[in-house]
Amino acid sequence: MTAKLISGNEIARQIREELAVETARLKEKFDVVPGLVTILVGQNPASMSYVTAKQKTSKELGFYSLQDDQPETITEAVLLALIDRYDRDPRIHGILVQLPLPKHINETKVLCAIDPKKDVDGFHPVNVGKMTIGEADYLPCTPAGIQQLLIRSGVKTDGAEVVVVGRSNIVGKPIANILLQKQKGANATVTICHTGTRDMTFHTRRADILIVAAGKPKAITADMVKEGAVVIDVGVNRIGMTPEGKAKLCGDVDFETVKEKASLITPVPGGVGPMTITMLMMNTVKAAKLAAGVV
Ligand code: GUN
Repeated sequence: MTAKLISGNEIARQIREELAVETARLKEKFDVVPGLVTILVGQNPASMSYVTAKQKTSKELGFYSLQDDQPETITEAVLLALIDRYDRDPRIHGILVQLPLPKHINETKVLCAIDPKKDVDGFHPVNVGKMTIGEADYLPCTPAGIQQLLIRSGVKTDGAEVVVVGRSNIVGKPIANILLQKQKGANATVTICHTGTRDMTFHTRRADILIVAAGKPKAITADMVKEGAVVIDVGVNRIGMTPEGKAKLCGDVDFETVKEKASLITPVPGGVGPMTITMLMMNTVKAAKLAAGVV
């Protein structure tokens, strides 16, 4: 079997069209303009490119958008004070602090300083808790994007065996949580594998839906995948430069061999990546609506 591609680019484009219509309606009907600030500390090249893409998309959708670049040397206290200012700024509905942060800054403390109502990343413990009990206002963006890819590609999750490789707070843990909820687009039987898993292949070969966020290039090979599985590759590994000077990317899945076994597979780039940004926009629109008390 040769897999069909799940195009994150195409599905993200559809959702952005819906969001552009909704943003225009909010402006027209309620004079509400979604506001997003992205805070970047330092000059990590991957973080810089993510933040640039988030800014570009939010501007295209007609948001009020701010890019706040801070030096690597910023103190934790100054960063916390900055967040407090945005917490109180009524033009801003969503605050995103790009991760990772420099080692001298306590990431948890920073994430906890963001008003949960403006936490469009869904990383504040209050929002993590709400997600866990199935009452989320904001789902974290990458896992929410994965769920949308599955729903909009017609993949049945109800009763499916889902295996997640990776237990990060940003992807592995939340996607497992989302897909196990007794809700539409979820209700799966979920297993999480990680570096402590004794026999990874035993688990991955049972997966109807295999979600890979291992942070390791080509960690999943064809022998680890069941014939006909749906494979979602969350990995973004920089493996050099293209002749045009762009970063050359590969996923955590050995795409060339696994695509011969899977029924559906996401490419890297153009799979999960564009969905992450799009879900951030969706959360920001929701934050603006909740703040204004409009539906
Ligand atoms: N770094 C990698 N992914 C993310 C994300 O979804 N949000 C933030 N804030 N930082 C990240």
